[in-house]
Amino acid sequence: MPYTLTVNGKNLTLDVPAHRTLLQVLRDDLGLMGPREACGVGVCGSCTVLLDGKAISSCLLLIPQAAGKNILTIEGLTENGQLHIVQQAFIDHHAFQCSFCTPGFIMTTIALLNENPHPSEDEIREHLTGNLCRCGSYPEILAAVRSLAG
Ligand code: FES
Ligand code: FES
Repeated sequence: MPYTLTVNGKNLTLDVPAHRTLLQVLRDDLGLMGPREACGVGVCGSCTVLLDGKAISSCLLLIPQAAGKNILTIEGLTENGQLHIVQQAFIDHHAFQCSFCTPGFIMTTIALLNENPHPSEDEIREHLTGNLCRCGSYPEILAAVRSLAG
């Protein structure tokens, strides 16, 4: 059956099987390659998108669970050619190496700052525990997030 949802501000009706995940639909049907699949089981955070403003692992969500929701991926952040401030902070702090994990970290950071614009160091670390960076860019990632927390 068709499912209606909003992705990056566009209202869409998608006729896809119910067993497909939001991540599969975003990447394979909509061509949004920002959310990435690494673990596929909800432990690495590389597939993180915002669902009604909350960070979720899109590899764990079946498409019926996304019906009627507002989805934001990293592709939806740029406005009029301007990077989002979190994207810019990651660039300014060199907060990536291969960048495979970066969209997930950025979306998780946006969810954090939406909920809590002035997180403490402990709150930042706690909030980012679901995102893994295999390149070990954690000091630079923390510096980028810290720079926005003030
Ligand atoms: S791919 Fe979704 S959490 Fe790892
Ligand atoms: S920058 Fe390579 S996995 Fe994080």
